[in-house]
Amino acid sequence: AFYVKVDRDTCIGCGACGEVAPDIFDYDDAGISFSLLDGNAGAVPVPQDLTDDLEDARDGCPTGSIQVEEEPFRTLDEKAV
Ligand code: F3S
Repeated sequence: AFYVKVDRDTCIGCGACGEVAPDIFDYDDAGISFSLLDGNAGAVPVPQDLTDDLEDARDGCPTGSIQVEEEPFRTLDEKAV
């Protein structure tokens, strides 16, 4: 399984990720992206049927802010957003 989180320090809010993967990414009030799967914790596996969207978003992010790993980033009680 894949896990995703947005590096919110480098995201510039370009909006590309939400376009290609609206079931994975949303934006806060400042327009900065986060994973809506788990509040950007990177702890909940990305559903299998969203894998293509995930790859498109990662490849399309102009700042390389979409981090994808095969292991969880952190536990759910450490929500970032
Ligand atoms: Fe930010 Fe990259 Fe999405 S800059 S809005 S994470 S495509």
